[in-house]
Formats: sequence, structure tokens, C-alpha cells
Amino acid sequence: MVPASSSSGFDFVVAANRLPVDRHVHPDGSVEWRTSPGGLVTAMESVMQDREAAWVGWAGFAGEAPEPFDDGALRLCPVPLSTEEVADYYEGFSNDTLWPIYHDVIVPPTFHRSWWHAYRRVNERFAEAVAEVAAEGATVWVHDYQLQLVPALLRDRRPDLRIGWFNHIPFPPVELFSQLPWRAAILRGLLGADFLGFQRADDARNFMRACRSVLRATAKGDVVTWAGADDAQLGAAPRRVRAAAVPISIDAQGLRELAGSPEVQDRVTEIRASLGNPKVVLLGVDRLDYTKGIRHRLRAIGELLEDGEIAPPDVVFVQIATPSRERVEAYRLLREEIEGTVGRINGDFSHLGDTAVHYLHQSFGREEIAAFFQVADVMLVTPLRDGMNLVAKEYVTARHDGGGALVLSEFTGAAMELRQAYMCNPHDIAGLKETILRAIRDNPAAKRRRMSALRRRVHNHDVQTWAGEFLSALAAAPDRPAKSSSR
Ligand code: ADP
Ligand code: G6P
Repeated sequence: MVPASSSSGFDFVVAANRLPVDRHVHPDGSVEWRTSPGGLVTAMESVMQDREAAWVGWAGFAGEAPEPFDDGALRLCPVPLSTEEVADYYEGFSNDTLWPIYHDVIVPPTFHRSWWHAYRRVNERFAEAVAEVAAEGATVWVHDYQLQLVPALLRDRRPDLRIGWFNHIPFPPVELFSQLPWRAAILRGLLGADFLGFQRADDARNFMRACRSVLRATAKGDVVTWAGADDAQLGAAPRRVRAAAVPISIDAQGLRELAGSPEVQDRVTEIRASLGNPKVVLLGVDRLDYTKGIRHRLRAIGELLEDGEIAPPDVVFVQIATPSRERVEAYRLLREEIEGTVGRINGDFSHLGDTAVHYLHQSFGREEIAAFFQVADVMLVTPLRDGMNLVAKEYVTARHDGGGALVLSEFTGAAMELRQAYMCNPHDIAGLKETILRAIRDNPAAKRRRMSALRRRVHNHDVQTWAGEFLSALAAAPDRPAKSSSR
């Protein structure tokens, strides 16, 4: 896999389910590489810019993987997934078993042994791919719930490596985690790392409790000590692993510059004009995912329209929903429901030329999203559960003019930091409606004070700070890697 020019391998390797770019084939056969969806790629793309490193990940389509290729200083190493593996490992175990369990079982998780077998097999393939490109003593940064077995599988192959893992999503309470028939194997997989990073202190605590309860490990302070096991399935190596909160962030400076650029400023004016220059624009920007609370948000908006508290053309709501995981049943049902609700609301409350809810089921470039943020007088970030939610941090940063207001669910990781937002419990529709009205009607000076505190927080804790904290914690991890005799 490694071309001759780098036969000694890379000192820094990232492994994530997705590469930073996805390959799309157009009907005429032409190929386009597009930025992959989601917060993981947004954050890691800026961290990896100009770093000499390898990124091991899937190129977003089933079948044979393309050859490794360079993107600036970064070597992209595609891992192949067959059609069956996309269905069983990615759509199945990752997104229909783990995702619901790790997000408070908002929809019921599905358990299939065949999905687990595919998850193991693909995790082994990732571990192999990383072992091939990593230099002696390299630092390896594994990401997210799709690759929880990689740390131990990699350590078995390459004890010389320093291995860190970061969870971009919540880690569930032990009562939910314990439902997983493969809970012990997953914990043992993670304990192959030297350092485990989580979004919130609660996530790290949940992980430590799971280690205690499922593996009978000792957890003191933020270190888990595990004596190993006789069970060959679980591996035998005793380990001491640190687990702590390192909340992720955004490239604040890059976004501020982009948001202030003349092109984006022109788009702000154009977008506002195409909405009919309303007095108030409410905005939601999410992947179309049941964790994001879009249903609850629409319910609140529908009721506010019904109560006559808001009405077009003065107040309009724009919902941007990125297409996501469209072959997973829960996502298909969600899309049907959301689109039905938007249709009903517009049927009842729009007039010719005055649309109450603008719904865009599309992906946009970063410039367009930065423009939309500046159009939004009130940003609605109302997930039922979210590891962090980068959109909240992006919104406050993009508002370099000091305007705007952020309504933020208390069930996001971002709520731990963005305390001056208009906090809401999205399950409480009456409370959500009141909060939205408050964010619209509060006096401008109070809103500006809140936004300025929020912007300062993100400015002082940006994505580079996050990466620095994670990598320092990994370098200072309690267990030292072994010297490899095989290389
Ligand atoms: P998640 O990782 O669960 O999707 P985050 O809020 O953490 O949620 O990150 C989402 C990222 O995707 C943000 O960087 C956001 O700007 C971007 N994004 C969201 N919707 C769109 C869209 N329709 N087009 C392009 N980028 C989008
Ligand atoms: C979240 C997850 C990422 C995932 C992204 C997009 O951010 O934490 O691991 O890549 O959503 O989801 P997808 O299934 O399209 O990769």
C-alpha cells in the first residue's frame, strides 16, 4: 500500500471511517471528489492541513478502493468496503446498532450477529491498513464509533505505536451500553489505546463505569486499570489507559475570514433578498438525523405560526438538511415525516409569494453555509442528543458583526461551553416556543452581550487547541509503548 518513496512509513497516522473526501461518479462516468459530510471531517480537515501524515479511511463507495494518493502533504489511503460490508458494517452495525445506543435510544437499536462479524472484519482491515503505513513508534489517532476495535487490533500487530482514540459522539450510560451483546469486546478494543478522548466529562465517566461494570476493571481518577483476561476473544494484555474530556471545536479564524470575505457578504444580501427581506430569519442547519431534534423544532415553529406569534413575510424559517444515511430505515422514515410536516405547515400558513418554511434537502459549500449563518437572526440548534454540535460554534463565529442569537439544546456537548446561549429542552415544546420568542424579542444589547461571550469562548478554544490538547494527553499517556522487534 505504501509507495516506495515512503517505505519507512508515516510518523503520524489518522484513521477514520471516512476519508476527508468522498468519490462521486456522475451519470456520464466522470468522477468528482467532494468533501465528506459531518463534523469529524470539518474538524480534522483543518487540523491536518499542511501536516505530513497519512489518513486511512473509506472513499464512500462500495467495491475496489482507489490507489493511495496525495492531497497536499497528506497521503490518503483508501480502505475498500464491499457492498455487503457497506450494508452490514456501516449502515448496519455502525449506524443502526451503535448510533442509536450511543444517542439515548431515540430510535430502537437493531442487533444482528452478522453485522457484528462485518464490524470486526472491517475493523481488522483498518488495523492492517494503519499497521502498513505507520513508521516505527508512530502516533496513530483513531476516530469515532465505527472503529472501536482498531486500538486493540492495532496494538496486537504493532506494540511500538502510540495509539489515541477520540469519540465524536456521546458515550452512553452503562445501562444503555450494557444492552450491546458485544459490550466486553468493544471495551477491550478501546482499551488497546493509550489515551481515550471524549467530548464531555460525563462521556468519559460513562466509559469508566462501563469498564468497571462489564470488565471488572479498576477506574481511579481518570485512569482505567485492566488486568487483562484469559478469554482469547478479549485478549490478555493488562493495560492502564487514561480517559478524559477534550471537547472538539472549529477553525475559528478560518471561518471568520471566510464569513467576512466580499463574496460571502454579497451572498448574504442575495439570500436575504430571495427570502423577501424578512424582519426575522430563523435557521436550522443539520444532517437529516433523528438525533438533531428537527421534528420537535418544526412542531414548535408550527405552533408559533398557529398561535399567530410569528408569520410570514415578517418571520420565516429556513431548514437546511444535509442528506444522510438514506438507506437506513429510521432515516427514510424521518425524511418522510419531516417533509410531510413541512408540506402541512406551508399548506396552512404560507401565502402566494410568502413561504413560512423554506426547506433545502441539499449539501452546500462552506461559503454558502457561512452566508446562511449571517442571514440568520436566530439559529435553532435543538438536538435531542449530540456529542458536540459544531454548527453552534460555527454560527457564533460566523456572526463577526456581533448580531444574531443562538437557541441551544442542553443535550449537546456544546451546551457545556456555550453557556450564554438561549438554552432549551427540545422535548418541552412550550418551553422551546418561549425560548425562540425570547431570542427573537430580547433587547439587542442583551443579545450582543451573549453573542460576544459565545464568540470569545470559541475563539479561545478552537480546533487547533483541541488537537494540541488531545495530542499532548496522548504523548503523556501512562503506559509506554513497547519497542517493536519485528520492524
Ligand atoms: P454532525 O457531525 O453530526 O453532522 P456537526 O454540527 O458537529 O454535526 O457538524 C456538521 C458539519 O457539517 C458542520 O461543519 C456544518 O457546517 C456542516 N454542514 C451541515 N449541513 C450542511 C450542508 N447542508 N451543506 C454543507 N455542510 C453542512
Ligand atoms: C458524525 C459522526 C462521523 C460521521 C458523520 C457523517 O459527525 O461522528 O463519524 O462521519 O456524522 O455521517 P456519515 O455516516 O455520513 O459518515
